[in-house]
Amino acid sequence: MMDFKMKQLLRMAIVAAPFTMMITHASAEQVIKIGHVAPVTGGQAQYGKDSENGARLAIEEINKDGLVIGSEKITLQLDSQDDAGDPRQATQVAQLLVDDHVVAVVGHLNSGTSIPASKIYRDAGIVQISPAATNPTYTHQGFKTTYRVVATDAQQGPALASYAQSKGIKSVAVVDDSTAYGQGLASEFEKSAKAIGLKVMSHDATNDKAVDFRAILTKIKGENPEAIMYGGTAATGGPFAKQAMQLGIRAKILAGDGVCADQLADLAGAAAANVVCSEAGAPLDKMPGGATFKSKYAKRFNQPIQLYAPYSYDAIYIIVDAMKRANSTDPAKLLAAMPKTNYAGVLGNVSFDANGDLQHGVISLYTYPGGKKALIDEVKM
Ligand code: ALA
Repeated sequence: MMDFKMKQLLRMAIVAAPFTMMITHASAEQVIKIGHVAPVTGGQAQYGKDSENGARLAIEEINKDGLVIGSEKITLQLDSQDDAGDPRQATQVAQLLVDDHVVAVVGHLNSGTSIPASKIYRDAGIVQISPAATNPTYTHQGFKTTYRVVATDAQQGPALASYAQSKGIKSVAVVDDSTAYGQGLASEFEKSAKAIGLKVMSHDATNDKAVDFRAILTKIKGENPEAIMYGGTAATGGPFAKQAMQLGIRAKILAGDGVCADQLADLAGAAAANVVCSEAGAPLDKMPGGATFKSKYAKRFNQPIQLYAPYSYDAIYIIVDAMKRANSTDPAKLLAAMPKTNYAGVLGNVSFDANGDLQHGVISLYTYPGGKKALIDEVKM
């Protein structure tokens, strides 16, 4: 005969059983972290937030739809970090993400941060997809972990040089901001410009914290080039274009994706109309999923897309696609599944070459008539 206490304990166990099962079931739900890194503070914060928003939107959608990998229910968590566009901070946060056990990273935004951070992800065997880094070196280090979803400066440089030539420009001066991106893009441009017969009158270097470009611009004014190519970002490119106009320089200012944000119009003022800049991808409105993404983004964040949001959004989906194909969230298996990526996203069909670069890069060119960014041309490279 069971005594009263025993009976009571048994009854409690029976009542508790379904709860225990529920708890067991709940613990099978796994939280998987994906890193995101961009400069979300400082002069490039608008770009950085834009990229972070894109990644966040993808994660929220995937969680809402429900993700199951290898019969386990997965909840994705965005582990978002700020590198402030600084190479040293980039390696620190990269290590932090590795220690945080992220399975993959979307980032970094700049070439100058993506390249040093890539060594840390390589050592940890973690996939890195940059939504924005365009310096060719990033994917040419022999690492299996580096991918990007933008074209490169080996495509942006020639596109800008050919554009100049098509407009009858015969002489150019080149200035870069001494970062891996600015310097890399400027030298790709210079190489192409020379190859197609443009006269490169000078190549000067400033830095990515500079605010006063009048000494370099005064010197360039004396050289009287028909265009000035600026390798850098909008934070410095805006004031650069503005000061050029103030000094009475009428040469066109050519620049890459780093400059090609809405923010340029705010920083350059009326001089934005004199800027021609490229993006290392198709125009948003011409991306297969562009219109849908634009409205989803506006609804969620109540602001327009700057530039990189569709790229970081697709990068998250590409990581999840690799997890599904690997049927695993193990970073090594995910990494092994990456080369076979063939993902149809907002950007269109994404597949990679042996280095982790896009199979089909597109460059688009813009200018700012009346301060509003407008497409000039789209070039398939
Ligand atoms: N394309 C820019 C870079 O590589 C953002 O830094």
